[in-house]
Amino acid sequence: MKRKTFASALGLTLFLSSFAPVSAKNLTIWSQKAIDRAKFQLTAMAKTTDKQNLDSAVFPRTVKDNKIKFVGIYDWTSGFFPGSLWYAYELTGDKALAKEARKLTTKLSPLQYYKGIHDVGFMMFCSYGNAIRLASAKGDTEVLVNTAKSLTSRFNPKVGLIKSWDHEPAWKFPVIIDNMMNLELLFEASKMTGDNSYKNIAIIHADNTMKNHFRPDMSTYHLVSYDPETGEVLTKETHQGYSNSSAWARGQAWGLYGYTVCYRYTNDKKYLEWAEKIANYIIANVKTEDKIPYWDYNAPKIPNEPRDASAAAVTASALLELSQKSASGAKYFSYAEKILKSLSSDKYLAKKGENNDFILMHSVGSFPHNSEVDVPLNYADYYYMEGLKKYTDIIKLNKTKLSTNK
Ligand code: GLY
Repeated sequence: MKRKTFASALGLTLFLSSFAPVSAKNLTIWSQKAIDRAKFQLTAMAKTTDKQNLDSAVFPRTVKDNKIKFVGIYDWTSGFFPGSLWYAYELTGDKALAKEARKLTTKLSPLQYYKGIHDVGFMMFCSYGNAIRLASAKGDTEVLVNTAKSLTSRFNPKVGLIKSWDHEPAWKFPVIIDNMMNLELLFEASKMTGDNSYKNIAIIHADNTMKNHFRPDMSTYHLVSYDPETGEVLTKETHQGYSNSSAWARGQAWGLYGYTVCYRYTNDKKYLEWAEKIANYIIANVKTEDKIPYWDYNAPKIPNEPRDASAAAVTASALLELSQKSASGAKYFSYAEKILKSLSSDKYLAKKGENNDFILMHSVGSFPHNSEVDVPLNYADYYYMEGLKKYTDIIKLNKTKLSTNK
């Protein structure tokens, strides 16, 4: 299969503006250093993971008690490390990374039939989705389409949403904003098969999330709980944020990314406008100098609260795509660039061989559960790699444009 570039996958050729020359100069300085560092860390991590995987299938998720915490395939984060390896391969051309990525991606194959959680989009699109894009192997597409089928089994037409978790009795039909991240898998499955039923479910889910998850200021609730019989909204709450009325940082980022993807696949302007409004909310409400948010925008002890590099990485990746589609692209590009530069500074980017071989420091998994606070997380690394890839593509496109205009 012909290798599909990341830029063409995102339609980045659509909108070439003139805001990049300064950044083009910078590419060789900070972003190249970041890519080299990421490659070093991921290569070391792959070696350690290989040793762990001699008679099991485990994936590095975070650091606990100063050791890498490995998880099995059913953990929601299992696809991120293979995905980071795919991006590192794409950014560096190092075939050894592709080999490692393929090995780990294949281990996730049983998940194509897993119907126990909404997170299969994360697990399989970050791994198999990138594999198909970069080095598709026989059967990969079927695996992804089967996964999409499994995900649609969680869609309830009465509610008009995909159920996130099976956590009764706490909730009968919970939907978290994170679920917007699983729609990319459905859109792609429709593209692959020509069967629009996946895409239609994604659109219904996105529309109902617009209706029920967002507050008038465009911040989002983390969790909305529904009655599965009537579709009625029962509660609007948080699970990983500070309070039911607060803005959990990663939730804002998931929403932004999700609607940016909806626009990519539908060209429906309402999703573009929604993503822009979320972006504007984020830009207006992240008050930190370096643009890396605290774990919740309303955390009570700011400035003495942990930052969440993962939320920042997801935001940067989404904004880079939005920057190529929005009339306010320059603003979004510049904000995303600031985030990536901060993440690539000594404050967040691990030194070679440190941080248990994760790339970024200082993320938060779930503060209220005192779980994974101020630690490396594999999804922070994944979206950072994705952001670096998008950034590189945009800079290169603009360089080409500048040189052809001479
Ligand atoms: N989807 C779980 C999280 O963002 O922590």
